[in-house]
Amino acid sequence: MVDLGVLVSGSGSNLQAIIDNIEKGRVDARIKVIISNVPEVYALERAKKHGIPSTVLPHKGLRREDYDQRLVEALKAKGVELVILAGFMRIITPVLLRAFSMRVMNIHPALLPSFPGTHVWQAEVDYGVKFAGCTVHFVDEGTDTGPIIIQAVVPVYDDDTADTLNARILEQEHRIYSQAIQLYAEGRLEVHGRRVLARDFPKAPYTSMINPPARIFDKVPDIWQAGRLCSWT
Ligand code: GRF
Repeated sequence: MVDLGVLVSGSGSNLQAIIDNIEKGRVDARIKVIISNVPEVYALERAKKHGIPSTVLPHKGLRREDYDQRLVEALKAKGVELVILAGFMRIITPVLLRAFSMRVMNIHPALLPSFPGTHVWQAEVDYGVKFAGCTVHFVDEGTDTGPIIIQAVVPVYDDDTADTLNARILEQEHRIYSQAIQLYAEGRLEVHGRRVLARDFPKAPYTSMINPPARIFDKVPDIWQAGRLCSWT
């Protein structure tokens, strides 16, 4: 059983997925406190609905380090072991990271190290990548640079907008964040430098995704004839 502190700044759909998975007995964890730096966000409603202690800790007027010191105090006071950033829109300083070394997790809506930062969905559509996804990682002193725990991949379609891609990725976020927490709760996560190993956990089956989808060639098709480029008709 792992005691969590969840930090939020917004709607908290990832928080909700974690709460649901804990309630269903899929994640062996307790949320000891939910802390928001922004008042009146929907994540706080979710906390109330589920009877989870929550508090608003505004950051205005505080140096980043001083703010993080207050976070550390609030988290320690509740006996938190693992800190979960769930849409917490602040840069974390070493003050928090040293107090919870390799015990702060974040979810990022892209396949890191590609597309760090914010507004990633439009950037992915504009860049023309054929796959996107999400990443749960331990937080280090960089931005979106910490050791990667788990990733999920989704295709990007020709008619995608930032919103449709966001929705597809978010669905996967709601799966993998809980899985990362459960791997931690089971004591399986081993950090070796940049690499996080999931000890005694099954390997992902070898499959591939090709986008646009693969065609199976039974014989060498015409398109491969000297110098001609593919035109699918
Ligand atoms: C998600 O896109 C997550 O990847 C990012 O912040 C957003 C949080 O959404 N870190 P929600 O508040 O969990 O709905």
